[in-house]
Amino acid sequence: FVEFCYLTLYGKESKQFIEIQEKLFLLFDEYMMLSPLLLPRAPRYMEITLPSMEFDKFQNQEFISSAQKNQLEFHQSALLGMAMAVTTLFPKTSPIVHKMCFRNFIASVPFTTFSSAVSADKPRPKWRQPVVSLVEIGGVKIDKNDVVRDDPTNNVPDSIFSKLGMQLRRKDKHPIGILKNAIYSYFDNNYQNKFDKFDDLCPVVSVKQNFDDVLVPADHVSRSYNDTYYIDTNHLEVPHKCSPSRVVEEGPHSLSCNWRCLLDSIDATHYPVFHQMEGVRVFEPNDWGGSGVDSTSYAAADLKKCLEGLARHLFGAVEMRWVDTYFPFTNPSFELEIYFQEKWLEVLGCGITEQEILKGSGKVNNVAWAFGLGLERLAMVLYGVPDIRLFWSADERFTSQFSSGRLGVKFKPFSKYPPCYKDMSFWINDSFTENNLCEVVRGNAGDLVEEVQLIGNFTNKKGMTGHRYRIAYRSMERSLTDDEINDLQAS
Ligand code: DAH
Repeated sequence: FVEFCYLTLYGKESKQFIEIQEKLFLLFDEYMMLSPLLLPRAPRYMEITLPSMEFDKFQNQEFISSAQKNQLEFHQSALLGMAMAVTTLFPKTSPIVHKMCFRNFIASVPFTTFSSAVSADKPRPKWRQPVVSLVEIGGVKIDKNDVVRDDPTNNVPDSIFSKLGMQLRRKDKHPIGILKNAIYSYFDNNYQNKFDKFDDLCPVVSVKQNFDDVLVPADHVSRSYNDTYYIDTNHLEVPHKCSPSRVVEEGPHSLSCNWRCLLDSIDATHYPVFHQMEGVRVFEPNDWGGSGVDSTSYAAADLKKCLEGLARHLFGAVEMRWVDTYFPFTNPSFELEIYFQEKWLEVLGCGITEQEILKGSGKVNNVAWAFGLGLERLAMVLYGVPDIRLFWSADERFTSQFSSGRLGVKFKPFSKYPPCYKDMSFWINDSFTENNLCEVVRGNAGDLVEEVQLIGNFTNKKGMTGHRYRIAYRSMERSLTDDEINDLQAS
């Protein structure tokens, strides 16, 4: 049952291509005595095809002869060898993705960049969202070519750019817009309109603003290309948090509702784009002067009172608890949890802004608090929305259920189209991350992918680890056919 093993290398005829071909020949000759078939052809990715290897199922079966076992082992090492070859040749690319296609394993490796491989030069399937090429945010026009580029330092997919223009937070009848307005009105009512509000800050910030200025350590995981969308090595699309220095500069009391994006897993509650409300309050020495407590304790007590009030405004009279936590930009740092629908639910993260950050914004005699709250997660529980992708859906059965100013109306699910499941297995190496796998799946299937779930793993005697994933595809608009998803996976 193991009949063939071949390697196809696609690429434009160029000096670089020929060099890579030669290196591959050498590598394979040396390590595996395979004769790879190299076809200089079409665009920029490389495909490695190996026979079906359901190792975990077959390897320990008695009906496998020892010759077959040897063959299997040979192919296992061939695949590992190819993985090694690829990581040697393309050290900067994202991890290899082995797709289960028909009976074969295919490893696709971007030739130039990760994003360019994902958006191969093929016509887009009809169901993909239209490609937007210009969006306007806060009067600033952002061209797609400025954000999504075919450059090894850029990992922003088209889909992220298209979402940017949808501006859900500015739609008064959309759950995200309604929740934003409810938070704004809590602050307006309790702080006599003192808080300035921003919902159209530029989604592109510098690495310095987003990480360095807010003391995120140089080796922090959030800085990695597996976590953050980089436009180039110096700029990124706002992940995790809005730079507090930017907010502090905007005023002593500010609320900003921004979009965030980060590479993430795929399931009903995770989506690479979401919205976050950030709040900052800066105190002057005479605010805490007569209180009898130090500035940090004063600000922390004010922060907790303010956010407990906000949670009651949104969720009613719920039980709450504070949990100590760590953020690089605040000290002390806390999370607020509420007891809602019989579960403890994390509502937000917050803390007292590090003095060094305030100093960076020229505030030397002050103390400040800050918080950040994810709108999608709260909107899902408040409205009972079962799948985060629905927020991006234009389906009237979804959009017509919400009206401006009405918080927490229970969402009535409409009938779902059936899912289509596909399993895939592959060996992983050290550079594999689930986020990047999800990014490839999402780059290929867009919003059709509902969930990517690890359903098994296996380590063989040589210490190689294989993963088996189940991908659930489901359209919000129609029934998917098996053939269509097979084609999609093979593309
Ligand atoms: N980034 C935090 C989170 O993801 C929330 C947060 C905490 C935002 C402290 C802030 C802050 O602006 O100062 O939960």
